Amino acid sequence: MEAPQKNLALDLVRVTEAAALASARWLGKGNNDAGDGAAVDAMRLSFNSLNVAGHVIIGEGEKDHAPMLHNGEKVGTGRGPAIDVAVDPVEGTKLLAYGRPNAISVVGVAPAGTMYNPGPSFYMQKLVVGPAARDVIDIDAPVKENLQKIAKALGKDVDDLVVFVLDKPRHEKLIQRIRESGARIQLHTDGDVAGALMAVDPRSEVDVMMGTGGTPEGVLAACAIKGVGGQMLARLDPQSYPEKEALHDAGLDLREIHTVDTLVRSDEVFFAATGISGGTFLRGVQYTGVGAITHSVVIRGKTGTIRYIESYHNWDRLMKISSVKYD
Ligand code: FBP
Repeated sequence: MEAPQKNLALDLVRVTEAAALASARWLGKGNNDAGDGAAVDAMRLSFNSLNVAGHVIIGEGEKDHAPMLHNGEKVGTGRGPAIDVAVDPVEGTKLLAYGRPNAISVVGVAPAGTMYNPGPSFYMQKLVVGPAARDVIDIDAPVKENLQKIAKALGKDVDDLVVFVLDKPRHEKLIQRIRESGARIQLHTDGDVAGALMAVDPRSEVDVMMGTGGTPEGVLAACAIKGVGGQMLARLDPQSYPEKEALHDAGLDLREIHTVDTLVRSDEVFFAATGISGGTFLRGVQYTGVGAITHSVVIRGKTGTIRYIESYHNWDRLMKISSVKYD
């Protein structure tokens, strides 16, 4: 028997809340960088108050030159456990900028040296399911076969299933095959971390996520999926010749099939996410006049405990001590 350990996710949720509170002001303003920048600054400030020696393995932004917490950056006070850190201050920058659902702020952490470093990889093919179907999926099997096995594992018919797919030209064939199988589809312009979270959340109508999205987002999602006990099978899937060349130069194997256990090689994984723009997964930041309400999920990998946290932030008192201006 072990005495309960510290649940870092309960500290991390303050980090994602800070990023969400700072960036939600930019909802629908059409400015990608402003929302991202506000979230990055708030996240960095909040993270640096935590007693951890954090090393950012997954910092977002290089792909589209957005503001970012840099890969390799040190975060935290430096006192405390050495951890690998994956962040996406605004996952779904365009969702926020255009006021579309499912922009979220996310952080995952695991012991130092245990998180997959995607190096120059931008894109990854992903197949995500919750615990009940975790052992029946095969990334190399035809779409129809996977969906039939998933439906059986969930005790459903294939036409009961909902598959989350990013609405991108690269998915034309995938969408066609899902339709041919009889399953239903939710098409989203962005946000496949939220998609993965929905696929493993029994309360969501989404049963599966399929298709190619960001590699950093894949590692972040793996932190949560592992905690919940679901599965993600993934494979690097470069979308341009320079990306393919860079992967080759870095010695990364395009045939390797990753699982949540190769993307995060420890059970001591913690994950937190806070809704920014609202939507089917996590409600967005609601400003009340005297403060704001945020909705978050925190997951501890070791125990598989999932907590949904509704926080009431009070400007009167918070603004007396906060160096970020949220009101
Ligand atoms: P950002 O937050 O960086 O804008 O990422 C949004 C996103 O939709 C991710 O959820 C997804 O993994 C990736 O972009 C897909 O990339 P692309 O839009 O280039 O296909």
